[in-house]
This record gives sequence, C-alpha cells and structure tokens, in this order.
Amino acid sequence: MSTFWSVYISVLTLATLLAMVWLLWSTRRGQPNDKPDQPLGHSWDGIEEYDAPLPRWWLWLFVATLVFALGYLALYPGLGNWVGLLPGYDYLDESKKLEFANGRQGWSSVHQWEREQAQAQAQYGPLLARFAATSIEQLAKDPRAMSMGERLFASNCALCHGLDARGAFGFPNLTDPDWRWGGTPEAIKTSILKGRQGIMPPWGPVLGAQGVADVAAYVLQLNRRPLPEGVKADASNGQKLFAGTCALCHGQDAQGNPAMGAPNLIHADAFIYGSSFQQVSESIANGRQGQMPAQQLLQGDDRVHVLAAYVWSLAHGDAER
Ligand code: HEC
Ligand code: HEC
Repeated sequence: MSTFWSVYISVLTLATLLAMVWLLWSTRRGQPNDKPDQPLGHSWDGIEEYDAPLPRWWLWLFVATLVFALGYLALYPGLGNWVGLLPGYDYLDESKKLEFANGRQGWSSVHQWEREQAQAQAQYGPLLARFAATSIEQLAKDPRAMSMGERLFASNCALCHGLDARGAFGFPNLTDPDWRWGGTPEAIKTSILKGRQGIMPPWGPVLGAQGVADVAAYVLQLNRRPLPEGVKADASNGQKLFAGTCALCHGQDAQGNPAMGAPNLIHADAFIYGSSFQQVSESIANGRQGQMPAQQLLQGDDRVHVLAAYVWSLAHGDAER
C-alpha cells in the first residue's frame, strides 16, 4: 500500500474513534446546564419522551468497544501499513524466517496457521516419526498411538464411518472381519492413504427387470434368505446369469475380489447398501459407487500409518487399551 493510502486510512480510522470519544464526553452527565429526566414535551399516544442519560451498562459497553478497537489496531494489522505488535515469524530461527516469511513481518492468518503447523510438527513430529517406524501390528498395541488414532479417527473418519467405526448405509463397518479391499495392515493403509472407489456397474439395462430379479434371488439364496412373498424369481436362472456377468468381479464362488473392491456376496450382513431383496435388486439394477476419499495429502503418511493401526486394531481387538 502506498504511503498516501496508508496515512489516509489511518487518519480516517483514528479520527472516527476520536469522534466517538468526543461524542461520549460531550453528552456525559453532570454538566452545569444539565436538567436530567425532564420530559421534552413530545408525546405520542400518551408515551412521552424524556431527556434521560444513557444507561450505565450501555455507556461502559461503548467505552469497552473503543478500548477494544484501539487494542486491536495496535496488535493486528489494521491501520494502513502498520503490521501490528503481535509477532510474525520470530519463533523461527533466522534461516527459516526468510524461507517462510517472504520478508513479511507481523501477524497474519497465514503466519498463525504456519506457526501452529510448526508447533504441532515440533510437538508431534518426533513421536509420529517413531510411530511411523513401528509396524502396524506393533503399533496397535501401543496405548499412546491408539489414543492418537482414536482422536484422528473421531475428527476425520467418524463423519462417514461413525464414531464407533461400525459404518452406516453406504459406508462400510471397519470393525468386522469383512473387508472390501483387503484386511491386511498394508491393504488397510493403502485404502486410507490413496482412497478407494468401488464401482459396481448398473445391470438393469443388460439383464432386464426379470434378469435382475432372478440374480437378486440367487444372491439371497446364497445367503439362505427367503424371498419376500409374491416375488416371482428363478434363482437357478439367476445362478447362470451370475456365472456369466457377475463372477468376473465377485468371483465364481461369489466371495468377492479385493483387487477391485467387489464385496463378498455371501456375507449379506456386511452389505453396505442393504440386504433386502429390494435393496439387492437396486444395487444390481442401478449399480453403486462408493467413494473413500484419499487421506495422503490431508493427513500425511505418518498420521495415516497411525490411523491404519487404529483401524486394524478395531477388527483384531488386541489393542491393549
Ligand atoms: C465390474 C465389476 C463388477 C461386476 C461385473 C459386478 N459387480 Fe457387483 N459390485 C462391484 C463392486 C466394485 C461393488 C462395490 C460397490 C461399492 O462399494 O460402492 C459391487 C457391489 C455389489 C453389491 C452391493 C453390496 C453391498 O455392499 O451392498 C451387490 C449386491 C452386487 N454388487 C451384486 C452384483 C451382481 C448380482 C452382479 C451381476 C449381475 C454384479 N454385482 C456384477 C463390482 C462388480
Ligand atoms: C466421505 C466419507 C468417508 C470418509 C470421511 C472416510 N471414509 Fe473410509 N470409506 C468410505 C467409503 C464410502 C468406503 C467404501 C468404498 C467402497 O465403496 O469400496 C470407505 C472405505 C474405507 C476402508 C476400506 C474398507 C474395506 O472394507 O476394505 C477403510 C480402511 C477406510 N474407509 C478407512 C477410513 C479412515 C481411517 C478414514 C479417516 C481418515 C475414512 N475412512 C474416512 C467413506 C469415507
């Protein structure tokens, strides 16, 4: 900002504050010609206007906002080119200061964010580095790592998977032994780090309504579930259709394929889109697209390592917490 505008803004701001002080001063009580609490002679519908002073609490609130404004303008950058008294990068050593600060000084939201990042890094960096060097199975037995994992899970994952990690419609349960993408420590870590996209294509247009009903009946039969009353479907035709269309991804034995996130169809309890005839038919006819967002950029590799250990411990239950 050029000096002219800097001065212009500063003068205008300070003059306004001064005008406020003057206003308070000039309307204060106890002046010689003060006749407080006199009616002014204006009356509307029997309501009269009095020349009463400002209520005390209101007056002090006014004073407080003025003091706050002055304090704020002194601490933060608000008056033209004034950068404020709050520190910018002086918590960093000289070489870092240049790297970070680009020559800027004083407080800014960016400085504050970078400062908090640096502090968190200084505080948790060595601990995270130690965790990252420990295997996921070992880490799952470390109570400190697990309480960190629990907190990370609550703030980043619970939204979709639930606080107890038991999932919800469309979001898998992470505490059971059914894994869509594999339950080894490495597979879980990859799921979190890179994210996952489960793509089940819609089969309605290919199979037709009867074909969908038949193959849905077959999926229910695999799970020893009865068809709802009144549904006409031929599970043995469904079996043939399954072998021709579904087995490619879900496997001939319908036990799924973690390479493409195709779930095991013999564990209907773990279906995330529901296991009723209606819901299974919908999954088949319209397809499904589950999206697990990648966490690598958001969390960084070391936090994901801790999260993977936490998730792994949920399913294995041998964390010593
Ligand atoms: C191209 C591979 C592919 C083919 C072919 C395929 N599926 Fe799928 N299927 C998937 C994937 C991947 C998912 C998981 C989708 C998700 O997670 O959102 C899925 C999900 C499902 C679900 C929902 C499971 C749940 O958790 O609720 C059912 C039911 C299902 N498939 C049945 C079938 C049937 C029956 C066929 C044959 C008509 C079939 N699939 C063909 C890949 C496939
Ligand atoms: C926006 C919602 C969302 C958030 C946030 C989310 N997930 Fe997921 N996650 C999903 C969905 C949906 C799937 C299933 C993807 C599919 O259809 O295959 C999934 C799948 C997974 C899987 C693979 C499960 C399996 O059966 O193989 C793991 C592990 C996982 N999430 C862990 C996490 C962790 C840890 C976090 C927090 C860092 C997290 N997720 C945050 C939606 C989410």
